[in-house]
Amino acid sequence: MSIIEVKNLSKNYEYYRKEKGIKGSLKSFFYREKLLASAIKDISFSIGEGELVGFLGPNGAGKTTTLKILSGILYPSAGEATVLGFTPSRREATYQKQFSLVMGQKNQLISNLPAMESFIINKEIYGISDSEFKKTLDELVGLFNIGSFLDISVKKLSLGQRMKCELVAALLHKPKVFFLDEPTIGLDVVAQKNIRDFLKTYNEEKKTTIILTSHYMEDIRELCQRVIIINLGVIAYDGRLDDLIKQYVRHKLLTVTFSGKGILRRDIEKFGEIEDFSANSCTIKTSRSDAKSVAVALLSSSLPVDDITIGEESLDDVIRHIFGEGR
Ligand SMILES: Nc1ncnc2c1ncn2[C@@H]1O[C@H](COP(=O)(O)OP(=O)(O)O)[C@@H](O)[C@H]1O
Ligand SMILES: [Mg+2]
Repeated sequence: MSIIEVKNLSKNYEYYRKEKGIKGSLKSFFYREKLLASAIKDISFSIGEGELVGFLGPNGAGKTTTLKILSGILYPSAGEATVLGFTPSRREATYQKQFSLVMGQKNQLISNLPAMESFIINKEIYGISDSEFKKTLDELVGLFNIGSFLDISVKKLSLGQRMKCELVAALLHKPKVFFLDEPTIGLDVVAQKNIRDFLKTYNEEKKTTIILTSHYMEDIRELCQRVIIINLGVIAYDGRLDDLIKQYVRHKLLTVTFSGKGILRRDIEKFGEIEDFSANSCTIKTSRSDAKSVAVALLSSSLPVDDITIGEESLDDVIRHIFGEGR
C-alpha cells in the first residue's frame, strides 16, 4: 500500500529583485520586479508502508522544498501530494498527529529548557496519555541511551546529544510517517553512527515510513535500500541503491598490502591502473568483472602479498557521476 503519493508536483517560489543601494531600495518601494524560482518541476513518486527512502541531491536540488510540501508547510504550485490519504497543505489535525519532520538545521526543542520540558509540551500538544508517554519515552530514551542528560538545559548539550533529543521529541506521538532533513549534518562520526543505528532499529521495529535526506553517503548506504535522486528540481533516479551502484560503479578498488618493502611500481602496473602506491601497499583500480581474477593473479605472482581487500568506488563518486550526467 502506498503511504506517500506525489503526482506531477511543482513548486515555484516568488521573489522580488532588489536593486543595490538606497536608490535601489527607493525604486523597489514603488516598483518591484517579480521573479519565479522553479524549485521542483513535475516530480512524481510513491512510497510504500515501512520504506526508508534516501532522498539525495546537491544543494538547491529541491529536497527541503519537497519535504516541506509533504509536511504541509508549503503549498504546491501545481500537482498534488498525499500522505496517508491526507492532503498535507490542508493541515488537518488528524494528519498533524501522524507525521513528524526533523530538520538538522532547525531546532524544535526550546534551547533554554531541559529536553524533558519540551517532551512534556509535546505530550500536551499531541494529547498523549500519561501511560503511553511513559512507555514511549522509556523506549526511546533506552534506544538512544540519553537518560543522563534529559534534565540539562538543551543549550548546554553537544550537537549530537541535542539531535538525539530532537528525534525523541519528534517520535513521542508515534508518527506513521517521518521526514528527516539532514539529521546528521555537522555531527561528529560517532554521533552520526548513533543516529544511523537508531533510525535503522526504529524503522525495522516500528515499520515507520521514512524519507531521509543526507549529504553523508554512509547514512544512505547503511539505511536505504531505495534512493530517489533529485537534481535541479527533477528526478534523476528512483530505484534500488544496489542497482544504482551496479549501473554506475564500473570499477573496484583492490588494496594490496605486502609483507616486504621495496615493491616496484612497474611490478604492479601490469595488474591494473594504480590509484595509490607506497612502500608496502598499493591500490589498484580494475573493472568490476576483473576484480577477482586480478586478485588471484596477484596472489599467485611472485610478489610478497600479505593481504588483499576488494572495495567499491565510493558512493560519493557515483552520485557525482549522476549529477554530472544529468546536467
Ligand atoms: N524561500 C525561497 N525563495 C526563493 N527561492 C527559494 C526559497 N527556498 C528555496 N529556494 C530555491 O529553491 C531551490 C530548492 O531549494 P531547496 O528545496 O532548499 O533545495 P535542497 O534542500 O535540495 O538544498 C533552490 O534553488 C533555492 O535557492
Ligand atoms: Mg535542504
